[in-house]
Amino acid sequence: MLAISSSSSCSCSTATSLHPLPNYSASATPSLNPSSISFSSPSSCISSLSFRLHSKTHHLRISQKPKGLRVRCSKNEPLKVMISGAPASGKGTQCELIVQKFGLVHISTGDLLRAEVSAGSEIGNKAKEFMNAGRLVPDEIVTAMVTARLSRPDAKEKGWLLDGYPRSFAQAQSLEELNIRPDIYIALDVPDEILIDRCVGRRLDPVTGKIYHLKNFPPDSEEIKARLVTRADDTEEKVKSRLEIYKQNAAAIFSTYNSILYKIDGNRPKDAVFKDIDSLLSQLQKDKTTKPVKPVLQTESRLDQASSNQEKWRGIPTRLNNIPHSREIRNYFYDDVLQATQRAVNDGRTRLKVEINIPELNPEMDVYRIGTLMELVRDIALSFADDGKRVKVCVQGSMGQGALAGMPLQLAGTRKILEFMDWGNYGAMGTFINIGSIGAKEVGEEDDMFILVAPQNAVGNCIIDDLKAMTDAAGKRPVILINPRLKDLPGSSGIMQTMGRDKRLEYAASFESCYFFRLLYYAGTQYPIMGAIRMTYPYGYELYRRVDEPSGKEKYVPLSTFTERPTIDEINDAFIGKPRNKDKKASGFWGFLSGVF
Ligand code: AP5
Repeated sequence: MLAISSSSSCSCSTATSLHPLPNYSASATPSLNPSSISFSSPSSCISSLSFRLHSKTHHLRISQKPKGLRVRCSKNEPLKVMISGAPASGKGTQCELIVQKFGLVHISTGDLLRAEVSAGSEIGNKAKEFMNAGRLVPDEIVTAMVTARLSRPDAKEKGWLLDGYPRSFAQAQSLEELNIRPDIYIALDVPDEILIDRCVGRRLDPVTGKIYHLKNFPPDSEEIKARLVTRADDTEEKVKSRLEIYKQNAAAIFSTYNSILYKIDGNRPKDAVFKDIDSLLSQLQKDKTTKPVKPVLQTESRLDQASSNQEKWRGIPTRLNNIPHSREIRNYFYDDVLQATQRAVNDGRTRLKVEINIPELNPEMDVYRIGTLMELVRDIALSFADDGKRVKVCVQGSMGQGALAGMPLQLAGTRKILEFMDWGNYGAMGTFINIGSIGAKEVGEEDDMFILVAPQNAVGNCIIDDLKAMTDAAGKRPVILINPRLKDLPGSSGIMQTMGRDKRLEYAASFESCYFFRLLYYAGTQYPIMGAIRMTYPYGYELYRRVDEPSGKEKYVPLSTFTERPTIDEINDAFIGKPRNKDKKASGFWGFLSGVF
């Protein structure tokens, strides 16, 4: 719960009810805090806001220049809700309760398809074999059904609750193209082992359409019990297949709705789950009907900007091999990294790393690239500073002693560049942002977090001791490594290759990825780009194939998702369309990536 107080001396006040958007909530996106957040008086002349969160005071820097309010008037529209989750995560069960309370039109693609199957229609006959095999019904069938249902007057008047659609990135894109967007995207989260038991024990009442479970929710009477039926796809084997398909698609769909996504723990009694959903939807409904709503300071923070950019996320930008990249592409990546990093820090993660190797951001290729890397670091640092945190940006200094002192070539002069960079007009540099080097003595009591620019071992010198001393001194404060290179390199004395190697590697591995982006090429080449891997905290790894379009354009098409970083063989298999967990063979054309993965 946020308790917000304004330190403004200005007396004007505007009652504000905040939509539970990620950038205002205690936890930036998926973890749920449905508590309604309301406060008064964000006015144009506020100089700073402070609020207490987890017993710590944070300061929000806001421009002192009067900028005025921008008022976004919402139309009195009905609610538009999407609910998703693995098979048997409880979507149908929650939908019953949502419809009872909010009167939305429930559109379940599973139910629509089952009705077609029972009616023996052409669509039903086509869909049947896919459903019985636990596979997805082809997009064109389902999309046509959903868009037709959404366009009916009742859905427009009462609002809608879309259950089980979209189930693939392509389906999500179809809705985006038609400008059909929900107000909120709810994802129910339930562990795999629970899901299987829920499916196998599920029974349906063909008369009332109610969902029962033999153990969890048995029917009240013998009469109902006698008429219950089991779904053809509710066998353990088919559930596993449906679950695997869900996992392959989830991350790509989540990324479409990232800014309105709320993950809810579905492994609780159904009333407890509904209580959270109810709070979210009630708040949303209130926001929609209150006029005028949501005054927004024109000085939107970088995080606000990033969120609204994420709303427009349309997949990976194209023309990545055109160097230098356009400002639009650079901004895309800055925002993408920023959001993932914010989510991880807001979730309490403290040892993080960002790895991104697009040519423009890969200082390993030449020293020129460091400018883009600096811009990325500046954006991340400023976004946290906007959030009231004191950020120390650190670059390793020279290592070794006397004539042997040296530093990695790419980092030479980096500290000076950082000092001379434009850090905005609001006096961030020297107050909320400070520049330092790597080591325990850089950790001041006032620092809230640390961003380390490409820390790396050099031949003959190892940064890990300084780094470890620094993280020990930082304690529970976040330390974010941007493009670190912590693998062992040869030492002139031979010491570095042997002594304490395991410990060094273990320490390097203790940093958790909060952002990963890597382009994929054929073995031994840097052109053409064949695909990309993207991971943004807290989601899985998404694998994309780059496809040339007849117009001379190109696009990145999602191929698969993985909970862990995929191996070269897994990438290979996904590209050639081979199912997972089949016999592994020696790495194929991605072989050169072995050093990377
Ligand atoms: P669909 O009917 O949508 O199936 P699903 O997504 O696999 O989800 P389920 O209906 O199995 O589960 P649920 O989350 O609704 O859980 P429920 O509330 O019933 O789709 C079926 C098929 O249609 C797909 O496999 C595909 O072939 C096709 N299809 C559908 N949409 C498609 C699309 N967009 N594109 C392509 N193909 C598509 O609960 C499950 C059980 O758990 C019940 O017994 C319930 O009583 C119990 N339970 C629920 N909540 C709780 C709780 N909190 N605690 C304990 N038990 C609970």
